[in-house]
Amino acid sequence: AAIIGVILLLTNVISDEESTKDDTNSVVSSKPLPIPPILEDKDPDPNRAEFHLTAQKGKTEILDGIESDTLGYNGNILGPVIRVREGEKVAVKMKNSLDDPTTLHWHGLRVDGENDGGPHSGIMPGDTWEPEFTIEQPAATLWYHPHMMQSTAKQVYEGLAGLFIIEDEVSDSLAIPKEYGVNDFPLIIQDKNIDKDGNMKYEPGMNDIMMGLYGSSFLVNGAINPFLEVPQGMVRLRLLNGSNGRTYHFELSNGQKFYQIATDGGFLEKPVEMTSLQMSPAERAEILVDFSELKPGERIKLIDSGSELSRTVTDEGAVELMELIVSEESTEVYEIPEQLTKIDRYDVEQANVTRDMVLAGVGATLTINDKTMDMTRIDEEVKLNDTEIWVVTNQRTGTQGGMPHPFHLHGVQFQVLDRDGNPPAENETGWKDTILVHPGETIRIITKFEHIGIFMYHCHILEHEDAGMMGQYEVK
Ligand code: C2O
Ligand code: CU
Ligand code: CU
Repeated sequence: AAIIGVILLLTNVISDEESTKDDTNSVVSSKPLPIPPILEDKDPDPNRAEFHLTAQKGKTEILDGIESDTLGYNGNILGPVIRVREGEKVAVKMKNSLDDPTTLHWHGLRVDGENDGGPHSGIMPGDTWEPEFTIEQPAATLWYHPHMMQSTAKQVYEGLAGLFIIEDEVSDSLAIPKEYGVNDFPLIIQDKNIDKDGNMKYEPGMNDIMMGLYGSSFLVNGAINPFLEVPQGMVRLRLLNGSNGRTYHFELSNGQKFYQIATDGGFLEKPVEMTSLQMSPAERAEILVDFSELKPGERIKLIDSGSELSRTVTDEGAVELMELIVSEESTEVYEIPEQLTKIDRYDVEQANVTRDMVLAGVGATLTINDKTMDMTRIDEEVKLNDTEIWVVTNQRTGTQGGMPHPFHLHGVQFQVLDRDGNPPAENETGWKDTILVHPGETIRIITKFEHIGIFMYHCHILEHEDAGMMGQYEVK
């Protein structure tokens, strides 16, 4: 299949972010949700895949009739979905057609350091990077994005991000929606600042640099407040918080329940029923929503309810992100499965090492263990195949008592042992690679380090990462 790129069809008119909301706080949806294409595998061998990506400059009509400079992989904004299977060998040819150096990081993938695409794997303009790896982890919704020192925030913001989906025997066999673009939809949610001229430039203010950028416009798959026709039945949404700094609390406008079935690194053991889902930057969640009780033509909205953690939406209350319109089409109505998968738990007794990670600072100095990132310094040395417990603390600092930091670890998926000594919430009992640590909180995570090389750990508020709230561990 040819790479189609992101198609933005314009139907109604919105002139600026103000007009996306009227007094009753309802959104006029204007564009159908763009569905990123699935990237073609260039290798006919079923056990091996080869993918070609080009990071390039593009133009995207975010506001009607106005083209904004954006960046994309193989297109104008965002990137295609890379879909692979557990056990598959994968080769990627990643060409940098930007004016600046970039890297391509596989967020959530268990790979050796040299294939991880961190800040040491810079690709100069015009050059091509060719990582190769084998998929050694269960079905999951991961993602890819650039990771250059000091320009990650800008490059992701300007459009460089895409989903990386792993399938396996479990995802094949579960009776859940799995027809991509039909009842299984990717939703990459990002907030941006679009100026009067329709430009989506990365121009963080002082507050953004200190606290993480909060935008006033909300894009899903690169379109402002889009709509999606959904079948009158069970629908699976694969959510990625692809925002630089914002933490969301996703809800449906009719207050309907939904079921989280997967976390960052794959399926939960059992679906978790909820009406509100918190997601900090870089986190993923798959949810099932049952539309079978709604009538064709009914419209409900995916909203961010805002919260004490959100910096700008508190006064206005909820923000509408997109609209879901129930169509005449009904798919098979699936039951919510009782059991999704079985997760082998790491045994605390098995841990050889315990390490402390102290996150600190608001504003100018953001540190992990009192240090800011130094590319030439290895902060932690890990022995290959060791199981370790990392004790991640968000130290209360400053007059405001600090802020939450989403802590991310490269090269592994981990399990959460506890939050301040209490068992994690049900929807945090699956595989995770990013976890939000609240001010004053201590979270213990456990993982086994099965890949060699140099890896990052950092705060995934991209402004914090770029400011050096990052460290390096080496596995050997
Ligand atoms: Cu989303 Cu260091 O990564
Ligand atoms: Cu990562
Ligand atoms: Cu942070």
